[in-house]
Amino acid sequence: MKTYRFDALTGLDDLTLHDEAVPVPQRGEVLVRIHAVSLNYRDLSVVLGNYVHAAATGLVPCSDAAGEIAAVGEGVTAWKPGDRVISTFHPRWFGGRPHRSLGAEVYGSGQDGWLSEYKVCSQEAIVALGKGVSYEAGSTLPCAATTAWSALSGNPPIRAGQTVLTLGTGGVSVFAVQLAKLLGATVIATTSSARKGEILRGLGADHVVNYAEIAEWGVHVKKALTGGMGVDCVVEVGGPGTVNQSLHAVRWGGEVVLIGFLTTENPGIDYFHLKGSGATVRAIGVGDRAALQDLVRAVDGGRLQPVIDKVFGFADAKAAFAHLHAAKHVGKIVIKVGG
Ligand SMILES: NC(=O)c1ccc[n+]([C@@H]2O[C@H](COP(=O)([O-])OP(=O)(O)OC[C@H]3O[C@@H](n4cnc5c(N)ncnc54)[C@H](OP(=O)(O)O)[C@@H]3O)[C@@H](O)[C@H]2O)c1
Repeated sequence: MKTYRFDALTGLDDLTLHDEAVPVPQRGEVLVRIHAVSLNYRDLSVVLGNYVHAAATGLVPCSDAAGEIAAVGEGVTAWKPGDRVISTFHPRWFGGRPHRSLGAEVYGSGQDGWLSEYKVCSQEAIVALGKGVSYEAGSTLPCAATTAWSALSGNPPIRAGQTVLTLGTGGVSVFAVQLAKLLGATVIATTSSARKGEILRGLGADHVVNYAEIAEWGVHVKKALTGGMGVDCVVEVGGPGTVNQSLHAVRWGGEVVLIGFLTTENPGIDYFHLKGSGATVRAIGVGDRAALQDLVRAVDGGRLQPVIDKVFGFADAKAAFAHLHAAKHVGKIVIKVGG
């Protein structure tokens, strides 16, 4: 079988194709024939050297895949050959509080990921993909979509009539726009591009703010777009360089959900700004298996169509990573595996 590995972590040229034996599933394991893999910013950050967890070299990249069961090991009761499945981002987080080794076990940084023609995993590390969802669309769900789902599922979760602020037009944010609209929320979305702003409006965003033109976009959101009230939830993917504006935008009693680290500048957070926001700050790590199953149920039946910017062939995987790096995309980038 063909398998990609990052032989070193110095740049995209370290992504190389290997010929390897198809693995044999052992007791409790399944062999998945992979049809599609989607990229997330973290897959890139591992090779750029700015990922938040330590990353080993020589691993197969990517956490998100869709495929079919090709064979099952002894004692497997959950699956049979031909079943359509997708990966779970955290292979051993089934629900409740995350276990301690969560960050060290992530695909592509802590263990081999899914950018391969076949992969063996535990029967518990996958969930069923509905018949109405294509492999390409299914491959977008394990990380970005589940993260957006978790962000909007706080305590209490987002409800109709509330206001959600999303940042940029990457995978997590576009799913957050779509899910927030499904829930009946008003969506304020930022972007640095007029072209992408039109796409956001097409997806249902009620207001679009160009953060490249309005430096104090968080203040603007609060004063000009919410009548001084502030938003109920900020889906915070920018990180250290955006969180201060997110704290300006949020309402007292609202929530800033800490997700990403797309920015490199880190001016720090003033204690009185944080306290004065009156907001809850919640850091999330994608979500557990139960969250992914809930999300798949919501997507199945055509309620939500993942936005796929471009599908690349397996031979063009490096070009897919380069496309993500260029950040011209809106939503997800997918690599089709096999014929
Ligand atoms: N903690 C978790 O559970 C979790 C889960 C998933 C992802 N993440 C993290 O969340 C972040 C987003 O991931 P992703 O895969 O959605 O990324 P992505 O698809 O690569 O997002 C790229 C987009 O982000 C936007 N962006 C960049 N800098 C920005 C800024 N200063 N302000 C607002 N938007 C900005 C740009 O949108 P425009 O071109 O429209 O400006 C850009 O096109 C990453 O840091 C990722 O590692 C964390």
